[in-house]
Amino acid sequence: MGIRITLLVGTMTGTAEMVAQEAQQALRAAGHEAEVRMMDGLGADVFEGGGVFLICTSTYGFGNVPDNAQDLVESLETVRPKLDGVTYGVIALGDGTYGDTFCRGGERFDQLLAELGARRAGELLRHDANSGDVPEEVAARWAVAWAQEHLVPLGGTA
Ligand SMILES: Cc1cc2nc3c(=O)[nH]c(=O)nc-3n(C[C@H](O)[C@H](O)[C@H](O)COP(=O)(O)O)c2cc1C
Repeated sequence: MGIRITLLVGTMTGTAEMVAQEAQQALRAAGHEAEVRMMDGLGADVFEGGGVFLICTSTYGFGNVPDNAQDLVESLETVRPKLDGVTYGVIALGDGTYGDTFCRGGERFDQLLAELGARRAGELLRHDANSGDVPEEVAARWAVAWAQEHLVPLGGTA
């Protein structure tokens, strides 16, 4: 059964956008409905009505979310909506050479959404730019398996 998934992109130099687009294509090929939205200008209301979201974000400035994701994080922190109807996954991009702050941008979203009552499906995908793995290839494969293992059995609703 196809699941409707919204991919939200936080990026500085476009890698997370490319990753989201490849994941979107792979999810569509697997029979799901997938939409990519950049985080620019988005507020907490993007989660209104619930649904399934795949956060796709890099990390900058020693552990922060990218600039285009700052407003969304601030809005969630201020409005603090109840996100009981939200199921989410996280593709976190980072670079292992940053040590302690590796993939903190994605982890920040994970922490915040969980605090607000959303339910995470599966574990985070953490991609290390220093690993030599092509992020969009890894992410596309991961996204299809993520949906198949964690969303399809629930009909995408829980
Ligand atoms: C100035 C700068 C700061 C960064 N800071 C971090 C960091 O604190 N932690 C981390 O894991 N990655 C960090 N990175 C790595 C990026 O998150 C990684 O290269 C990512 O793939 C970039 O994705 P994007 O093009 O979507 O922004 C940093 C990269 C740059 C250029």
